[in-house]
Amino acid sequence: MTQGQGGVRPLAVVVLAAGPGTRMRSATPKVLHRIAGRPLLGHVLATARALEPEHLAVVVRHERDLVVAAIEPDLPGLIVVDQDEIPGTGRAVELALGALPAAFDGDVVVLSGDVPLLGTATLRLLLERHRDASAAATLLTVELPDPVGYGRVLRGADGLLERIVEHADASPEELAIAEVNAGAYVFRGTALRAVLPGIGTANAQGEKYLTDVVAALRSAGEPVAAERALDPAEAMGVNDRVQLAEAERVLNARIIRGHQLAGVTVRDPATTWIDVDVTIGEDTEILPGTQLRGATTIGAHAVVGPDTTLTDTEVGDLATVSRTEATLAVIGTAATVGPFAYLRPGTVLGPSGKIGTFVETKNAVVGRGSKVPHLSYVGDAEIGEETNLGASTITANYDGVRKHRTRIGDRVHTGVHNSLVAPVEIGDGATIGAGAVVRKDVPPGALAISVAPQRNVEGWAERAAPSEAATEPEPDAG
Ligand code: UD1
Ligand code: CA
Repeated sequence: MTQGQGGVRPLAVVVLAAGPGTRMRSATPKVLHRIAGRPLLGHVLATARALEPEHLAVVVRHERDLVVAAIEPDLPGLIVVDQDEIPGTGRAVELALGALPAAFDGDVVVLSGDVPLLGTATLRLLLERHRDASAAATLLTVELPDPVGYGRVLRGADGLLERIVEHADASPEELAIAEVNAGAYVFRGTALRAVLPGIGTANAQGEKYLTDVVAALRSAGEPVAAERALDPAEAMGVNDRVQLAEAERVLNARIIRGHQLAGVTVRDPATTWIDVDVTIGEDTEILPGTQLRGATTIGAHAVVGPDTTLTDTEVGDLATVSRTEATLAVIGTAATVGPFAYLRPGTVLGPSGKIGTFVETKNAVVGRGSKVPHLSYVGDAEIGEETNLGASTITANYDGVRKHRTRIGDRVHTGVHNSLVAPVEIGDGATIGAGAVVRKDVPPGALAISVAPQRNVEGWAERAAPSEAATEPEPDAG
């Protein structure tokens, strides 16, 4: 075997993602089903990349264009390998080896695209053991209380690995074995190249199994090692939607634990869901029923929740966000949002600002210290600083054909129940009377009123109400 300059052989990682994923019963390819904000395959590729391999290959076939489109943009230099009509993980790896440079003689790590929880630390350990033992193959195994579906690990009387038998091919005695193949392997590339072509498809599934390489290497007199995973959860394969939910639950618990240890209070981990890329500052409190999705970032000393879903949203330090749904929004330092607010894309709430109860916003910039406290719709609008919109202020931004903007200055006070018919501009320091329909610009400092003066009809109730004595119809008031 050739040793690299530092005594370490070069590394290639092959990720298997060609299978049909039949058990998912889905139009979406299995490896593109998402947990914690990323496709299953995305989690595996992130782990693969952390190993800093010289070559990273992914094998595709089922819905290959969809799969490639989902991963390729993020992975420059990725080698995409198309599997042919010969099925099986062994065939997938054989074709991937063929796609590596002919001169490559390093180690090959093989990962399954449907085993998303495997950690980089475990893989580094696997590689280290493999290299220390100068093994031809080292595979990760795990003991599972319910090993249904997994390949069983058969060891000889000496405890050494003999072969893997797939669930579909196993005898009743073999099915009773709890130690299973986790689907992560390190191979010496040259040894793998030598035995793969000889693997057949004479088994229950008619597939060329990668797992048959173990027995083939053993009969060639090559050393094969196995390493038990410390945390069985790392080996969880996702083959159906029950396992998908289970994997997401385990990953979510891991993510939450990471935030807790970094100084975030998460009141109820069981009802809190946090995607893998979310960041949260110290001393922030996450209340029950909260989902933090995508690229959401939350500052320090904030309170988020209960019952809040934030997607790709930025929350500043000291902000409070309660019973809110927000997407692609920015919530400033010490701002307050909710309860019951709906922040749509393009909402930017300034520092110490407020978007309150039953308020919907979209493409709206609300300046520093400005407040939209109750029952309002603010869309395609800019609001200056220290402005207060009265309850039930509506920006009428859509004329049926086009959207128009509303511009509101600093220190503006609108009355309750205002319709601001865009395009319209309200100058700094202006005031708007209750119930106004504002169709014209309001100059700075002006008072705008658009409701007809009130007229009181004295004694109306007495005349209008049917009295006990009156049996004949009321006289016509008009
Ligand atoms: C496989 C292992 C099994 C192990 C389990 C761990 C084999 C033969 N069996 O079984 O020992 O316990 O994983 O999770 O390897 N794939 C391809 N091309 C194919 C078939 C599959 O790329 O022709 C990919 C799939 O997309 C998937 C991975 O390989 O990402 C595993 O395939 P799957 O069919 O799920 O294998 P299992 O039956 O789970
Ligand atoms: Ca599987």
